[in-house]
Order: sequence, then structure tokens, then C-alpha cells
Amino acid sequence: MSEAATVLIFDSGVGGLTVFREVVRARPDARYIYVADDAGFPYGNQPEAALIARIVDVVGKAIAEHKPDLVVIACNTASTLALAQLRAAYTVPFVGTVPAIKPACAQSKSKRIAVLGTQSTVSREYTRALIREFAGDCDVVLVGSPKLATYAEMELAGTPASDADIKSEIAPCFGEGPPEHYTDTIVLACTHYPLLLDRFRALQAWPVDWLDPAPAIARRVADLLRERPPGPVGERPRIFFTSGRAPAPHLAGALAQYGF
Ligand code: DGL
Repeated sequence: MSEAATVLIFDSGVGGLTVFREVVRARPDARYIYVADDAGFPYGNQPEAALIARIVDVVGKAIAEHKPDLVVIACNTASTLALAQLRAAYTVPFVGTVPAIKPACAQSKSKRIAVLGTQSTVSREYTRALIREFAGDCDVVLVGSPKLATYAEMELAGTPASDADIKSEIAPCFGEGPPEHYTDTIVLACTHYPLLLDRFRALQAWPVDWLDPAPAIARRVADLLRERPPGPVGERPRIFFTSGRAPAPHLAGALAQYGF
């Protein structure tokens, strides 16, 4: 009988849990290690060169320690910045998380979408190249939020941000208002943001589709693990924080709901 595959999921914080939960749904029999680089959080507005070096170092140490069969970079900021360097540095297969611009433009009826991510992700050449390649006749509004990833961490830690604070971060996605500037699809281009989805829906200026790439990432992982026959559901997933801090009680409770 072949051993369960070990999958390493990496993010700057708890945002990657939104990817983790979909991947687990697709392959509940794998062994999961989640590494949160909370000592480096937030990634979204840091100088590029130092951040690349940090990501390559932290992920490299996790690979050496846990010997995964597959690594999921469950972070748009890290993927759009350092995926190429990670692939060059380590032989293990990587699955990245990058803005879902192609499916968003394909499904948009108004042909106007917004990409909501960290300031770093929306300003990156990687994202601009996706727009050039896949946006076609669609208008793409890029919205870089300096605060939403932190608000998502606060949400999970039980100290939610106010409606007004969240609303002001998502407002630019909606532009002036329908019908001339009608955004009908918003790409969640930061893995933290699905943690705020209920808040977004309650505060949206009008109904839109919020596009979460996690199911597509889970399909990709399942595809890469297809040679491994499904086994019984095995051990509990494990989570590691680079700060070495133990999660506070409310966060520990939230993590328990993810199986940790
Ligand atoms: N979860 C990360 C992403 O998908 C970024 C959050 C941050 O560290 O700023 O971009």
C-alpha cells in the first residue's frame, strides 16, 4: 500500500486556510502540514528583494523539515513574487495561487471585473501579464488593499474590523455605480479575503460574484496526486507559526474547526 502523500501549505498567515480547506476536501487522505509565516506578516507591502529571499528561505526550511511531496503556495503575494525562484531552488512540485483573471473575464456579462488583492499583488508585472493575456475585451479594475489581510486575521482571531472599515476597502471595486460602471465579478486575489466573504456580501454596493480560486487550486492538487490511490483519512493536519507563538484561545478555536 502506498504511503499517504505529504502536502505542505504555505501562507504569510491564516489566509491559506481558505485554500487548505478545499484541498483537504479534494484529498482528505493526504498528510497536511500548514506553515504560516506570521513573523513576516503582512507580505502585501514589503520590498520585493527582501521578501523573495525570506519566502525562499522559510519555504526551504519547511521542505527540509517536512519532506513534502507537493507544496501549495496558498498566497497570491508570494506566488506572483517568488514562484519562479522557488521552482528554481527546490525540486518538489509547487502549486501557486495567482489572480483568477481568466475565469473572471470569461464569466463576466458586463465585461467589467475588479481584482481585489494586496497592493503588492495588483502592482506586480505577473498580474499585468495575466490581464494582457486573458482579459480580452474586459475592463479590469485593479484594487490594492493595504488593510484587508489584517482585517481577515482579526476576523478569525475574534476581533472583527468595523463595517465602515471593510466597506471603504472594497468600495473602489464597484466604481461609480451601475449601469455605466457595472462590475459584476470580483476576483479574490488574496487568500485571506474569502475569510471575509460574508462581510463583503453584506456590504457590497450591488450583487456581484466573488471569485475564490481555491476550488481550482484543489483540482490542480488532486490532478498532481492522481497517481497516489486514495487511502483512508489519516492523521490530523499540523500547523506551524514561524513566530513560534501559540495561537490565542479564539484563534485556536477557529483552527480546531479546520481540523488542527
Ligand atoms: N494571503 C496573502 C495573499 O494571498 C497575503 C497577505 C499578506 O501577507 O499581505 O496575497
